[in-house]
Amino acid sequence: MNKQNEIIKMVDITKIYDSSDVETVALKDIDLVVNKGDFVAITGRSGSGKSTLMHIIGLLDNPTSGKYTLNGTDVSSLEEDELAFQRNKEIGFVFQSFNLLSRSTAVENVLLPGIYAGMGSQERVQRAVELLTELGLEDHLNKRPNQMSGGQQQRVAIARALMNDPELILADEPTGNLDTHSGDDVMNTLKALNKEGKTIVLITHEHDIAAQAKKILHLEDGRLVSKK
Ligand SMILES: Nc1ncnc2c1ncn2[C@@H]1O[C@H](COP(=O)(O)OP(=O)(O)OP(=O)(O)O)[C@@H](O)[C@H]1O
Ligand SMILES: [Mg+2]
Repeated sequence: MNKQNEIIKMVDITKIYDSSDVETVALKDIDLVVNKGDFVAITGRSGSGKSTLMHIIGLLDNPTSGKYTLNGTDVSSLEEDELAFQRNKEIGFVFQSFNLLSRSTAVENVLLPGIYAGMGSQERVQRAVELLTELGLEDHLNKRPNQMSGGQQQRVAIARALMNDPELILADEPTGNLDTHSGDDVMNTLKALNKEGKTIVLITHEHDIAAQAKKILHLEDGRLVSKK
């Protein structure tokens, strides 16, 4: 595989949390390559470092040491505003608890990342409606989160993640708050996006969910072990 194919490349990433008198080694010597078009699940017990790894991949936190290259850019040298720019452009986030604005409609939630990216107002409404329609939510455009089911809310969150057409989707336990049926819907949506070319990194502690990815990586006490 050549370098241009690598969307995530981590070499020797370590993360140590240093709070008051205890030092926690959350990640230890992580070497990770994710290629464009991959669908990778990261599993591991509670406290194994999954969210820590996700935060570093998503430029929401810095490693203590090691080198992280995202889509060809060595991100360790970037300033905070450049990190925010990269994050908004390259990555779509999906969280366990949806993280939608409760007073805003589906369309308003989805178009939000377009505002930060400087998209015109008409264009962003049009794109939000298109994305929601593609995800089967055309009858729910003007509903607020509390007027939708959990599965529908998570699909709104996926539409929001797609707003700026990022190459990488990071999903931290996206099915964690959903029943089996809605969880299947969300997994089918992620699989369809992967077929269209999106790279997906999914964090889950559920074996059945992880098994639907193309590759499974397992974290044990902050170390990566490959499974499939
Ligand atoms: N901000 C922090 N300060 C200090 N220690 C932290 C912090 N965040 C996480 N940790 C510690 O780092 C380790 C890894 O935590 P992390 O949240 O990455 O685990 P996880 O695999 O996501 O767990 P879960 O499945 O419960 O979400 C744990 O020992 C945790 O206590
Ligand atoms: Mg976690």
